[in-house]
Amino acid sequence: MSYTALNPRRISPHLGAEIRDIDITRPLSNSQVEELRRALGEFGVLFFREQRFDHDSQKRFGRYFGELDIHPNTPGPDGHPEILPIHADANSKVVAGERWHSDVSCHQEPPLGSVLHLHVTPPLGGDTLFASNYAAYEALSPRLKTYLEGLTALHAGERNYRRRNALNGIDDRGKVFPRAIHPVVIRHPISGRKALYVNRLFTYRINEVSEEESDAILGHLYAHIEKPDWQVRFQWQPQSVAFWDNRAVQHLAIWDYFPHVRRGSRVTIKGEALQTA
Ligand code: SIN
Repeated sequence: MSYTALNPRRISPHLGAEIRDIDITRPLSNSQVEELRRALGEFGVLFFREQRFDHDSQKRFGRYFGELDIHPNTPGPDGHPEILPIHADANSKVVAGERWHSDVSCHQEPPLGSVLHLHVTPPLGGDTLFASNYAAYEALSPRLKTYLEGLTALHAGERNYRRRNALNGIDDRGKVFPRAIHPVVIRHPISGRKALYVNRLFTYRINEVSEEESDAILGHLYAHIEKPDWQVRFQWQPQSVAFWDNRAVQHLAIWDYFPHVRRGSRVTIKGEALQTA
C-alpha cells in the first residue's frame, strides 16, 4: 500500500508499524485520518513516540475512528468517562491486561480499537506484547480450520472484573458484567480476512461441544495464538502511544517492573457485532 500523508515503518513480519513525523495530539486532516485507518488495517497495531496527549486530545484522536466506549468496570476521571486510567505502583495488587486478551471482548459489539498513551514508564520493563489473530489463524492446519468453522464461544467480563475488584478492595456485589457470543473464527469487518477470536481473559467456552472438548480446544488455540512467531513487542517510553485493532490483534501487558510506577490512559473505540467467517 502506498502512503503520502504518513510514513509507516513495518517493525515485524506479521504486525506492527512505527509512525514518526506526525503529531496526533493536534487536529488531523482527512488524508491523515484516511491513511491512519488504512495503516491500522494493514499493520494491526501502530506505534507513535513523543505524543503529549491530554484527555481532550486523546479523545479527539479516538473519535476520528468511531464513537468512544465507556469501560464497563472502571470509571474514568471526572468529566472524562471515556478515559480508562492505566496505573501500577508499589501498592498495586493487579494491573490491566496481565493475561492475553482483546479489549472488552465480552461486549456484544466488541471494540474496534484502543489508543493507549503512557505518561510514566518504569526504568525497565512494562512492555506490551501484541499477537496477530490473522497470522495465528492462517497457520492452523486445514483440518483444524474446518473443525472451527461455524463454532461460537461465550465471552464474559465476570471472572476478570470480579477478580480485579476483589484484589482492589472494590465491592461489586449486584453489578452485572457484559457477556456475548462471538464466532471462534471471524471475518474482519474491514479487511475481510479471517482471524481467530478467542482469548484467555474473556472467553469461557465453545458452545457447540462438551466442556471437556471446549477446554482442550481453547487450550490449544491460546497456546497457538501466543507463540512468538506472530508477535511484536513494544518498549514504551514516556509519551509513547499504541493504537491497535482489537479484532486483528490481541495483547498482553507485562508486569515485570514492580514496585515501579507505570501510568497512562486509554480510550476505546466502539465496534460492531462480529460475523462468522
Ligand atoms: C490494556 O489495555 O490491556 C493495557 C495494556 C498495557 O498496559 O500495556
